[in-house]
Amino acid sequence: MHKPLIAGNWKMNTTIDQGAQLVMKLRELLKGIQDIEIVIAPPFTSLQHLNFLLADTAIKLSAQNLFWEKNGAYTGEVSGEMLRAVGCEYVIIGHSERRRYFGETDETVNKKILAALREGLKPIVCVGETLEEREAGRPVEKVSAQVRSALNGLGPGMVKDLVVAYEPVWAIGTGRNATPSQAEEVHDSIRELLYEEYGMAAVNDMRIIYGGSVKPTNIDSLMAQPNIDGVLVGGASLNAEDFARIVKFEKSPER
Ligand code: PGA
Repeated sequence: MHKPLIAGNWKMNTTIDQGAQLVMKLRELLKGIQDIEIVIAPPFTSLQHLNFLLADTAIKLSAQNLFWEKNGAYTGEVSGEMLRAVGCEYVIIGHSERRRYFGETDETVNKKILAALREGLKPIVCVGETLEEREAGRPVEKVSAQVRSALNGLGPGMVKDLVVAYEPVWAIGTGRNATPSQAEEVHDSIRELLYEEYGMAAVNDMRIIYGGSVKPTNIDSLMAQPNIDGVLVGGASLNAEDFARIVKFEKSPER
């Protein structure tokens, strides 16, 4: 069984002070939880400070993006080494908002994954179909193609720390989540693909998480699906009580 991963993507929200307030509440609400891996992804500007505030907790830090070069003349970019230095263990790569608004492609996503792994960061790689692609009956086809190109050039020894986040674009920030069975169908196909590419050992370690309008009201049924190993939470992660309820999802008997 995979240890469930519950990650909060704060996106472009919170100043340092607002982030610190949220973290102080989370520290209280999530005290003592051992069986869930809890990750938050605040903006770059808060990482260093929140790293100090989280020092004696089990809550881990993620960045929301990185650049693939080690250093140099790349104005405005941040490298994996810099993220490690402020305490990040994870980094979100290829979020659909980055693909849509900042021109990220399957190719740049692949370069970022390789750079993250090189720097010892665990990538949370986002994939997902648009509404048109779902309505055309092609979610699995689209997501499989994205996963294949994201993982291009990665050998079996490299993927065990990699997390795939299935985030249907039509479900992000819309209040319209994929039903548990819609999500399960795509997760199952991703698992199958990973199995074909990397075999049993890699697949046993790799987690496939769901994102898109995850809330306290739908978390239990999502996490009851056998191939959903966790969630990536946007909006609801900005509310400490909601995020804590998501982390404390009701475990089904198999889990
Ligand atoms: P949402 O965002 O939970 O607000 O839909 C999810 C995400 O973008 O990771």
